[in-house]
Amino acid sequence: MLVHRRRATDPPASEITPQAIYADRRRLMERAAAGGLLAAAPVLRAADAPPPAAPRLRTRASAFSSSEKSTGLREVTSYNNFYEFGTDKSDPARHARALTTRPWTVAVEGEVHRPRVFGIEELLALAPIEERIYRMRCVEGWSMVIPWAGFPLAELVRRVEPTGNAKYVEFVTLADRAQMPGLRSGVLQWPYVEGLRLDEAMHPLTLLTLGLYGELLPNQNGAPVRVVVPWKYGFKSGKSIVRIRFVEKQPLTSWNRAAPQEYGFYSNVNPEVSHPRWSQATERRIGEDGFLQRKRPTLMFNGYAGEVASLYAGMDLRRFF
Ligand code: MTE
Repeated sequence: MLVHRRRATDPPASEITPQAIYADRRRLMERAAAGGLLAAAPVLRAADAPPPAAPRLRTRASAFSSSEKSTGLREVTSYNNFYEFGTDKSDPARHARALTTRPWTVAVEGEVHRPRVFGIEELLALAPIEERIYRMRCVEGWSMVIPWAGFPLAELVRRVEPTGNAKYVEFVTLADRAQMPGLRSGVLQWPYVEGLRLDEAMHPLTLLTLGLYGELLPNQNGAPVRVVVPWKYGFKSGKSIVRIRFVEKQPLTSWNRAAPQEYGFYSNVNPEVSHPRWSQATERRIGEDGFLQRKRPTLMFNGYAGEVASLYAGMDLRRFF
């Protein structure tokens, strides 16, 4: 995430399969299977068929969804940042495959009246799961539109009853050297830690995320549970969470600790505040905007100003970047 360079591994837009085509391929596979045409399947699989489908989640639509075209499933699952599995965009898809996500627990603790350890199946049943199509903006200057599946984090927060001392929420993610080859690198201190102010965590847009494209989260996207905070740069959306801690003091987050002058605690998408080494005024939509094409303008709070600007009323956003 430190530098955005065009790498040999970045898929050019022309090579990426749009979701509709992907879905067609899947339908073809399903029809082949249903019609006893499975003999054709090994050929398709060997060539470029998608991996077997994960279990479908039952989701309901949300008024918070963007009407923009979603980025193709293939790009969403092959162009990732998940440094525990390597720093190359293609590393997470390759190395996270073997991550064990069952059983999985999330300890919710700290300044709460009812600390609790949730099993992943309990989380899946905690509240109705919505499809939330969110714009996502990475601090590196690219963006995607992703149909996440989850429910407001506030649903979980309410169940543990924060005390009056809870001002911030810290998200601690898995750090398992046996499963995560990226932990050998000193690029960050592990575990990866992120944090939000309590009111940000309670905002209805902040999603406890369990799936995407109607299926359980692929490992490279943060299985089995992550948060998604769409008005902030993508690194605030911690993956593979094992602990959620309510605290009084602002947590020291991984990127803030690694490079405080570059990555602030708030990290709200703000086209008017440049990163010290590059502008944040424009972005390239993965799968749509070619490298030679003019980049599209980045919107204040990633386009969610109407919903979240009031959280920052009176704050100097150049200072609290
Ligand atoms: N969470 C963990 N645990 N480790 C990471 O390296 N990378 C962050 C964020 N969450 C990261 C993480 C960054 S920089 C981005 S842009 C998003 O995840 C990418 O999410 P995606 O790959 O699902 O699009």
